[in-house]
Amino acid sequence: MHSKKKILAIPGTVKENSTHKSFIRAMADLSKDSLDIELYDGLGGLPPFNPDIEDANASGSVAAFRNKLKAADGIIICTPEYAHGVPGVLKNAIDWTVGSGEFYQKPTLLVTASTDGRFGHQAMLEILRVIATKRIDELQLLVPFIKTKINSGGIITDETTLLALKEVLAKYLVVLNEVSLKS
Ligand SMILES: Cc1cc2nc3c(=O)[nH]c(=O)nc-3n(C[C@H](O)[C@H](O)[C@H](O)COP(=O)(O)O)c2cc1C
Repeated sequence: MHSKKKILAIPGTVKENSTHKSFIRAMADLSKDSLDIELYDGLGGLPPFNPDIEDANASGSVAAFRNKLKAADGIIICTPEYAHGVPGVLKNAIDWTVGSGEFYQKPTLLVTASTDGRFGHQAMLEILRVIATKRIDELQLLVPFIKTKINSGGIITDETTLLALKEVLAKYLVVLNEVSLKS
């Protein structure tokens, strides 16, 4: 019997009522028996990444973000694509961790949920490969036409998406459990 895994879920946007926050809540609901998912709402409070203050003098919000990442068993990123790329606020947050390494070998599930999303998804995969999250090539899902697949109440209405999400969450749980067995 495994205890619930502690997951930090990062939406790739600071938009108040974003589809991505709804999507994260839907994922939390689907996996409530096995995952304890905390929505990280601090992207907008992180300063622009600055290599001059990267380590010792990182501000409170950066230190708090790093601590949340460190304390989590795994990370979920649910993001849109902006201008065929990774939203700046998300990339900024990740840049703060490149030197300190909080993503290193951390099971990370990437869900790109966008109108199309292909380019941003590939760019995010490459970023997560280079910062060496665990098993990223398996732990990923691209959901195009997102607005047609989730309703205003945050319920995923598209059966194919729901199935794909359940499958990838099941895979994610396997990886999380493998990691905790080894440690
Ligand atoms: C500045 C901006 C650029 C965007 N560029 C893209 C894009 O390149 N590809 C895409 O699929 N969607 C793009 N979108 C649309 C997003 O996919 C869409 O806003 C998001 O998926 C819907 O979530 P929301 O609840 O945050 O509006 C863009 C949206 C904004 C605001």
